[in-house]
Amino acid sequence: MDTIIETVNLTRRYGRQTAVTGLNLQVKKGEIFGFLGPNGAGKTTTLLMLLGLSRPTEGTATVCGLDPVRMAREVKRLVGYLPENVGFYREMDAVQSLEYVASLNGFEGAGARKKIEELLDLVGLGEESGKKTAAFSRGMKQRLGVAEVLIKDPQVLFLDEPTLGLDPEGAVQLINLIQTLNREKGMTVLLSSHNLHQVQKISHRVGIMIDGKLIAEGSIDSLAEEKFGLDQKEYSLEEIYMKYFQEV
Ligand SMILES: Nc1ncnc2c1ncn2[C@@H]1O[C@H](COP(=O)(O)OP(=O)(O)OP(=O)(O)O)[C@@H](O)[C@H]1O
Ligand SMILES: [Mg+2]
Repeated sequence: MDTIIETVNLTRRYGRQTAVTGLNLQVKKGEIFGFLGPNGAGKTTTLLMLLGLSRPTEGTATVCGLDPVRMAREVKRLVGYLPENVGFYREMDAVQSLEYVASLNGFEGAGARKKIEELLDLVGLGEESGKKTAAFSRGMKQRLGVAEVLIKDPQVLFLDEPTLGLDPEGAVQLINLIQTLNREKGMTVLLSSHNLHQVQKISHRVGIMIDGKLIAEGSIDSLAEEKFGLDQKEYSLEEIYMKYFQEV
């Protein structure tokens, strides 16, 4: 499979604090890559650099063949980014928010309206479409964020804790939606999450970052083998993660 995201020695320091250290990461086109690590490990910082929203202190990144430092606008056209905390204009309702994002991406008129309706149904907000976003619950904002990200039919999705704050049913629906988008539209997904059960369910490969360093990368089976050897037991991603974590 082709590589769609690649970093070479990617490093970000904030003053004396190093957030990401010498990251060499490869994500293949068409895969769901689970990006794991404890709070403060450097996951969000990495995503920001891949989007051109934060400038690497050292090293380089390539996303869809583009350098995000020099081609940030082009990268943003191809990559849908759901941030940790999604923000909206409080006075707009769900439809207006999506119309606004659509217009920023050059979609307007009947085509855009149809797409917005479809997306609101897809994320389970069809009934709430006329409510102002100021009155949205956390989970509703999260769902609207997902709809916004999908408006431009991105090639790649960067999802930073997408199921945080969703009710259990909403979380399962979103995980299934991510899997469907990956299977049917071939979207590449870089998914940062602390929910290891969800990550295990849909990821083709995972990376574990601790203290700014990528300490493991591969399929869940290959990481299990690395840590536990070739026995018959099926290890959960949580068991594997904890083993890496304890041995750092
Ligand atoms: N704007 C900033 N200024 C200074 N330090 C920062 C800034 N952003 C992040 N950091 C630091 O960089 C490190 C990595 O943070 P980052 O947000 O990338 O972690 P994360 O893996 O996304 O964590 P979480 O799981 O909590 O979201 C942390 O030590 C954090 O304090
Ligand atoms: Mg983060």
